[in-house]
Amino acid sequence: MQYEVVLPAAGSGKRMGAGQNKLFLNLLEKPILIHTLEVFEQDSQCTGIWLAVKPEERGFIQEMLERYGISKVKGLPDGGAERQHSVHSCMKEMKQVDIVLVHDAARPFITHDIIANLVQSAHDFGAAIAGVRAKDTMKKVRDGVIEETIDRESLWMIQTPQAFQFDLIVEAEDVAEKVGFLGTDEAMLVERLGHEVHIVESSYENVKMTTQEDLVFGEAILQKRAKKQ
Ligand code: CTP
Ligand code: MG
Repeated sequence: MQYEVVLPAAGSGKRMGAGQNKLFLNLLEKPILIHTLEVFEQDSQCTGIWLAVKPEERGFIQEMLERYGISKVKGLPDGGAERQHSVHSCMKEMKQVDIVLVHDAARPFITHDIIANLVQSAHDFGAAIAGVRAKDTMKKVRDGVIEETIDRESLWMIQTPQAFQFDLIVEAEDVAEKVGFLGTDEAMLVERLGHEVHIVESSYENVKMTTQEDLVFGEAILQKRAKKQ
């Protein structure tokens, strides 16, 4: 089943502390952004990639796309102040498609299997997001004191990709924009419409490159995968 993907790439990478957009940092000699793009470039179901970028980084990114042979990018609109705005600026340029995936450019380890499950689930139910079961005991804390231990069975840690039928995510974003609602993920915007969002079990390897130690995990994952091939 075909889909197009929106990759917000217009962040600053403050928590990485690299003094530049973290997506330009290398993991085993290839930029994080290229690792992520290659997943979609190589997925035959993906018919288009939309990248939200900072205007001052557009030229550099276009050069990278050429150098690494990334051919599916249909547009690189300006990102916004918040991730949600960056996603929205891509959605505004997209033409009608069946399924849209939104995926953090900073998550290079997503697999084709998980993507396919998400696309199928979004086709069947309208909205589906990747997540993994919480591993640790979870407690609610107020002012440094435990208030409650939360039943872990019901807790999931949410990742991207998040997959939607086109009309549903367009409506959810329009409503959010109209009322000035800022969510931490796209699913929240759909939840606000009262629409159900399904979970697709993902992998603990689908980590977001956020802080310096994630780069160590990231290289370890790449090395493990290289050995398997
Ligand atoms: N992003 C974006 N536009 C923004 C903020 C973030 O396109 N205004 C993108 C990032 O480039 C990244 C993804 O959204 O691919 C997830 O965001 P995050 O991991 O928070 O990245 P940064 O915002 O760059 O990092 P930080 O929050 O540490 O500054
Ligand atoms: Mg951020």
